[in-house]
Amino acid sequence: MTPDTYRVDESHQIWIGGIRLGDLVAKYGTPLYLLDYATILARIQQYQGALSALTPKGQAFYAGKAFLSEAMAGVLKEHNMGLDVVSGGELYTALRAGFNPGHIMFHGNVKTRDEIAYALTARVGYLVCDSFEELDRIESEAARLGMIAPVLLRITPGIEAHTHEFIRTGQFDSKFGFGLAEGIADKAIEKTLAQPHIRLLGFHAHIGSQILDEAPFVHNAQTLLDLGRDWYRRQGWWPEVLNIGGGFGIRYQPQDQPPQLASVVKQIRDLIAEGTPREVMAPKVFMEPGRSIIAEAGLTVYQVLVKKQVPGGKWYVAVDGGMGDNIRPALYQAEYQAAIDGKADWLPTQHVTVAGRYCETGDVLIREINLPPVEVNDTLVVFATGAYNYSMASNYNRVPRPPVVLVDQGQDHLWIARESYADLVRADRPWTSVAWEHR
Ligand code: LLP
Repeated sequence: MTPDTYRVDESHQIWIGGIRLGDLVAKYGTPLYLLDYATILARIQQYQGALSALTPKGQAFYAGKAFLSEAMAGVLKEHNMGLDVVSGGELYTALRAGFNPGHIMFHGNVKTRDEIAYALTARVGYLVCDSFEELDRIESEAARLGMIAPVLLRITPGIEAHTHEFIRTGQFDSKFGFGLAEGIADKAIEKTLAQPHIRLLGFHAHIGSQILDEAPFVHNAQTLLDLGRDWYRRQGWWPEVLNIGGGFGIRYQPQDQPPQLASVVKQIRDLIAEGTPREVMAPKVFMEPGRSIIAEAGLTVYQVLVKKQVPGGKWYVAVDGGMGDNIRPALYQAEYQAAIDGKADWLPTQHVTVAGRYCETGDVLIREINLPPVEVNDTLVVFATGAYNYSMASNYNRVPRPPVVLVDQGQDHLWIARESYADLVRADRPWTSVAWEHR
């Protein structure tokens, strides 16, 4: 829930990355996103360690949609991680950071022709094909460019994981991928194998996000392996790669029990050892963690600006951020934990709702929470906001987006600057005139 370096000192003040939170607030202001380098690194190493237990070694592709910036791409590059991108913009960010295109996996249920051409000319390692239309587009763009496109097919395996319905993707009634039922996936495989400018490398399936059980991940790997076995029997074609997607849950609340990565990988190792025909190489297993790498490394820092009691007695505290920097409570009823700097380990004695500053009734960051007595001007931190917060932030109400600062061993590094009012109007063009009869 909290970053690995989070601690509270004897005066109840919060420290992260070896820096006092109060000093960061004095330097950068609020709202402020913080990321702890030690936590990011530990999670990256956890994936790489677990996946190296497989033969051939598995590979992790960080899902950029959780949080991506040039600096983040730089960290991933330095630590030899793969990267999953879902748009030309994410690809551009990675390439600008000097990320090796061969370690990039290009996803998305809708990729434009331009994005496909961009990915092919950049020579990304893998394109994950999501529909028959896209298969045609990849084939024709690859033919035009005189290339062979490296492709995985996205399979919808029919696995329903227990998570919020908006972030569930494995069930058949989904906009993603080729359904395993009714022969759709088989038709896609058959068609892909017949394309002269496509090389089918294997399968991908992502079943959902913030999943706390282990079984759906193992089931997913088994389903893809079975599909491969089926095609090996039918046509002698065997997948080199099985990409089982992301989705590992994290601890938003103290009682959340995330799945054990090493245990999942071990179960996958066993089923692959069991199910790979003797004449072929075991497929490489890829995973695409987003949230489980970055969420707990992050927290958001706000200032309490308003405290009011409403008729009926309920207390609201309102902060200088909200749905513009964290849409998850409004979109998924996501629940967060928080603390108050200077009272971080005090007993929680007050029941409050933490509201945001945006003009929506639904702009509530934490609906019900017990906190130590909150006062106006207090610094309030919300934990585990590293994933899908900055990346889903908006300029609603024309509020500039907060900066992102990385902390590590007593040093702070600005990763993304605070937006200015001038940034907000950068793409605006001023009023000039309309046809004179409208004046
Ligand atoms: N791979 C694919 C193909 C995905 O679609 C996703 C997430 C991931 C990997 C990474 O999943 P993770 O490890 O982060 O769970 N905005 C939502 C989450 C949407 C996830 C979309 N796909 C949220 O804030 O909860």
